[in-house]
Amino acid sequence: MFENVATAPPDPILGLTDAFNKDPRTDKINLSVGVFQDAAGTTPVLPSVKEAERRLLEGERSKSYKPIDGDPAYGLRVRELLFGRGHALVGAGRAATAHTPGGTGGLRVLADFLARSKVSGRVWLSNPTWANHAQIFESAGLTTAIYPYFDPATNDLDFSAMRAALAQVPAGDAVLLHACCHNPTGVDPTVEQWREIAALVAQRRALPVVDFAYQGFGEGIEADAVGLRILLEHVDELAICSSFSKNFGLYNERTGALTLVAKDVAQATSVQSQVKVCVRANYSNPPAHGAAIVTAILGDPALRAQWEQEVAGMRERIASMRQLFVDGLKRAGVPGDFSFIARQKGMFSFSGLTAAQVQRLRDEFAIYAVGSGRINVAGMNEGTMPALCAAIAKVV
Ligand code: LMR
Repeated sequence: MFENVATAPPDPILGLTDAFNKDPRTDKINLSVGVFQDAAGTTPVLPSVKEAERRLLEGERSKSYKPIDGDPAYGLRVRELLFGRGHALVGAGRAATAHTPGGTGGLRVLADFLARSKVSGRVWLSNPTWANHAQIFESAGLTTAIYPYFDPATNDLDFSAMRAALAQVPAGDAVLLHACCHNPTGVDPTVEQWREIAALVAQRRALPVVDFAYQGFGEGIEADAVGLRILLEHVDELAICSSFSKNFGLYNERTGALTLVAKDVAQATSVQSQVKVCVRANYSNPPAHGAAIVTAILGDPALRAQWEQEVAGMRERIASMRQLFVDGLKRAGVPGDFSFIARQKGMFSFSGLTAAQVQRLRDEFAIYAVGSGRINVAGMNEGTMPALCAAIAKVV
């Protein structure tokens, strides 16, 4: 039965971690997958998460199923984080949230919903975008298209090309936008550019799909929501896929959400009923643990304050690694101006390394980066920085 099944290529991001784990070299460095590491090179469980887990363990009375779209209390906390406390969309009504297994789960449920309900035509993705985006939407039977985003000549947003492309998007298509900390480039629109994007998307009558995986890793938890909140001033229908892998460090708990904003409560109710059909046909109902942690932290003022401090700590550490990397490249004599890396936001930097240079880093120095030249700055540390910069100097 399986003799004609061809071997699929390894995943461009997670496949590298498989290869990294198998690499016997002891001085290896993994800058591929977006996982935060501290100065010791470990990915810690946040203390606020540990405390929430302790309370959950003590208070847990049952492991019975969750509702198809998860606990309502979780949905409420997710919307507070997205829209800001006190916003009209926080209470159940025009916005409905489903707890999904990670941000990827949210994207896939959204894709299934768009396909099943024939809501949108094509899904427009930035060039470049997260390596999994096209595969998720296409697996659900949707077609994807590309809008320009990054200009390698300036290492910045190619806003005029982006704007020109968005101005041509047909009504009813979906446009995927990264809320902050664009993956893979680290380049975000300015507030002014967000206003133009929002006005354009509204004018084209396209559906904005906001991928929100790094809230708190750019400027701050509230500041990183600015693009989303500007969009909401222009459109009354919108999809948001949240991930709590990074800002709560809940990578392996697969904790995310899909929030759909509709024109009115009746439409939101219909939309959510269809989302539930998609979930039921896929994984039935969500895994409880990660969402229980998020709900416990966000629902307790002291724990929430602690978590905000911890997110700030991760954000500041990534920013300091960016500067250390820029300085280290200069010191190692790498030709060119890499100061743009310090200006980029979030975990990733589009380094400008070619696929051949990335391959040499892996083969000769056991340094793993994504073939596109994306490097996970959050995976760097003070100890490995000199070796990293020296290796880059050798391959450039
Ligand atoms: C990444 O881009 O490295 C992360 O979002 C992890 C993943 O699933 O690819």
